[in-house]
Amino acid sequence: MASIIKQKDWAISESLATPEDVFLNRRQIVKGLGMAGLGLAAAVALRPGGALAANDPTADLYPAERDEAYMIDRELTPEDINLMYNNFYEFGSHKQIWKAAQALKTNPWDMEIDGLVEKPFTIGFEDLARRMGLEERLYRHRCVEAWSMTVPWSGFALSDLLALAKPLSSAKFVRFETFLDPQVATGQKQRWYPWPYVEGVTMEEAGNDLAFLVTGAYGKPLAKQFGAPIRLALPWKYGFKSIKSIKRITFTDTRPVSFWEDVGPNEYGFWANVNPDVPHRRWSQAQERVLHTGESVPTQIYNGYGDQVAHLYKDLSAEKLFM
Ligand code: MTE
Repeated sequence: MASIIKQKDWAISESLATPEDVFLNRRQIVKGLGMAGLGLAAAVALRPGGALAANDPTADLYPAERDEAYMIDRELTPEDINLMYNNFYEFGSHKQIWKAAQALKTNPWDMEIDGLVEKPFTIGFEDLARRMGLEERLYRHRCVEAWSMTVPWSGFALSDLLALAKPLSSAKFVRFETFLDPQVATGQKQRWYPWPYVEGVTMEEAGNDLAFLVTGAYGKPLAKQFGAPIRLALPWKYGFKSIKSIKRITFTDTRPVSFWEDVGPNEYGFWANVNPDVPHRRWSQAQERVLHTGESVPTQIYNGYGDQVAHLYKDLSAEKLFM
């Protein structure tokens, strides 16, 4: 870590640094899709997600039954739009990474479960997915860049993984780590970023019903650009907390320093709970752009999940909970 050259503040990542007023507006989205349309023949041949489902060893687990307890009053983001608009810096610091992400080899995929647990172990992703009953949940997904989607994720509660991992009572945090392979993920050759991508939550947050380990989306195994084969979804937090392509889960008594917190500690923190009243240092968080319509709508505290999560933070008012 010490050898990593920190980026200057002004140089923080192209898109996480992009001010709200230059984000995609409706016309740009249509234009962007038109551009994508130029490559549409290629895109259909190598559908930005379609191809993998048939070959995936867990394909038979989908579609998972929808859990009606996790519904929302918003239209789902169309799959094709979602598949072609992603943040996955391992494959580039822009949104059109879907083709590059196909280089990721996700089978086999071993995961380490270690740190403050009864007994550390390695588990293959397929084994894990088959052990856990999968379900589908409709979740809001709100990026710190002020755009939002609504996604039908499939997966299992993070609390089920806690039960499997058997953390010790001394564990206070869960730390997640993405793969590290600069040959495949050429974004990882950008040495000023603190690879691998790391995220973390408290044990209390990890045990909350909403914390979800995602293995699929849109009724299929996860497309690579979504963070195959397994990622997190923490819908009350800004999207950067929802780490993709998890290789290692570590239980610890030390608060993890996450990727974006390391890159820009003045702008991105550990908690990152959604709050319309706490602006990003360079833009407002009051509104969000619904990605597929371009419509601007008011952002909600905890992204609309306050009833389920506000209690987690009642004794933490000294913390910077909303960045
Ligand atoms: N996980 C990894 N490993 N690398 C990333 O660059 N980007 C984060 C998060 N998880 C990211 C990541 C950010 S900033 C967001 S908004 C979401 O993934 C984007 O998820 P999506 O592409 O499925 O919308």
